[in-house]
Amino acid sequence: MTQSGTHSGTASATTSAALALEPVLATIEKTQAAAVERLAEFLRIPSISTDPAFDADTTRCAEWAAAQLRELGFRAEVVKTIGHPMVLAHHDGPSGQRSGSPRILYYGHYDVQPADPLELWTSPAFEPAIVDGHSYRGKPGKRIVARGAVDDKGQVMTFIEAFRAWHATHGTLPCAVTVMLEGEEESGSKSFEPFLKSHKEKLAADVCVVSDTGMWDIETPAITTRLRGLVYVEVTLHGPSLDLHSGMYGGTLVNPINALAAIVGKLHDADRRVQLKGFYDNVEPLPDAIRAQWAGLAFDEMEFLGEAGVKHPYGEKGTTTMERMWSRPTCDCNGIYGGYTGKGAKTVIPAHATVKLSCRLVANQDPAKVHASIEAFFKDHCPPGCRIEMVSHGMGPAISVPTDSVWLRAAAKALKATFGKEAALIGTGGSIPAVGLMQRELGIDSLLVGFGLDDDHVHSPNEKFELWCYRNGIEAQARMLAEFAATPRA
Ligand code: BES
Ligand code: ZN
Repeated sequence: MTQSGTHSGTASATTSAALALEPVLATIEKTQAAAVERLAEFLRIPSISTDPAFDADTTRCAEWAAAQLRELGFRAEVVKTIGHPMVLAHHDGPSGQRSGSPRILYYGHYDVQPADPLELWTSPAFEPAIVDGHSYRGKPGKRIVARGAVDDKGQVMTFIEAFRAWHATHGTLPCAVTVMLEGEEESGSKSFEPFLKSHKEKLAADVCVVSDTGMWDIETPAITTRLRGLVYVEVTLHGPSLDLHSGMYGGTLVNPINALAAIVGKLHDADRRVQLKGFYDNVEPLPDAIRAQWAGLAFDEMEFLGEAGVKHPYGEKGTTTMERMWSRPTCDCNGIYGGYTGKGAKTVIPAHATVKLSCRLVANQDPAKVHASIEAFFKDHCPPGCRIEMVSHGMGPAISVPTDSVWLRAAAKALKATFGKEAALIGTGGSIPAVGLMQRELGIDSLLVGFGLDDDHVHSPNEKFELWCYRNGIEAQARMLAEFAATPRA
């Protein structure tokens, strides 16, 4: 054993039938190298869900994950959807388990973001590389670098590897488990809601463990209890009917890029507050209790920004960086294009210009209203003779999950046993549409336990997962399962 050995003995052997945890932890320790190799195999499949060129790879990736689960005694299917397939797998747990023992759902996603810009990777995005990483408790560490390393294949593998260790040690899992792996999380989760509606019975569970978030730092585990929502649109401003010579026509008619940039420039005022009508209606100031709890986390703003190569905080006036990140709504351009963007110069007035725009939402903001307000804003500011076209790329509300459930307490206990430190309750600026949809469609709350770090380069070149986080993630998942199995359902 490494560090974990010093915190052993917290397994919940509360029933005579309980399966021992200690040998499971020993199995994890012995099989680390193989667990890394299996993760590397998963990472070699370029399951980029947004790009149709990778559709066959994305399906192959779902099949790979289903095959892993079948090896561990799951009944696993790759279910066709209107988009990418869903992996759905079920394990009954030990035979003769007591009535009232829980059923736990696990959610993760096997799809990844595109790897662009490819030239900024130090090794190819889908050829996982093991290189030096952060130290942990004074011991040097390695990291695995690849697209999807932490978001979310590495995190999915923390629970699959925990199941593997339970299966290898006891031939079963300590309680019933259902696994659902999505293939469209990074591209709008279009199929998710219809899938939930048509698989309600198979998905029945007491709680859903979602591993797609981060830790507080490499030593401090975390449970995320607040996620921001999202509205994502693409707005095109159409002007002349064709691209024109900028000498002949320049100054005589509207330039769609100039006009679009002017509208985008009006989205924020001088205090960086979003100018969409009704945007802040019902957005409440951070409750004092949460402000106090976050203050206790000792967030280092300059270190956080420094990891992104930035020296100056920037954002809505009168708020702190932490507030802006976890509890304030935003409106950001994600891409803007039009006209000539190739090498050299081409003198042209473009026929149209497009912006990809997203708003991160907080509690009480209605995504549909924000969507309508974006459309109204662009239409109201559209110059005469031009036309606005808006395409939606998905939306979902902000979510918070209960902080006082038996499942959260069970997870917190397992995290403390693994890391020797209390789990921090944190928010995140990111969104996981599945969490809100499962709450609404299945009535199931999520428990967001993740093992990423802020400097993991999520969605950026050189995405990585520290092998310490992977290893401790597997241990924490194995311990959590023991805790859950010993928790009677409400
Ligand atoms: N794993 C992320 C969410 C996340 C990011 C959690 C950072 C914690 C820290 C997830 O895969 C993601 O990127 N979600 C998208 C959702 C969108 C495409 C609907 C996001 O937040 O942009
Ligand atoms: Zn993710």
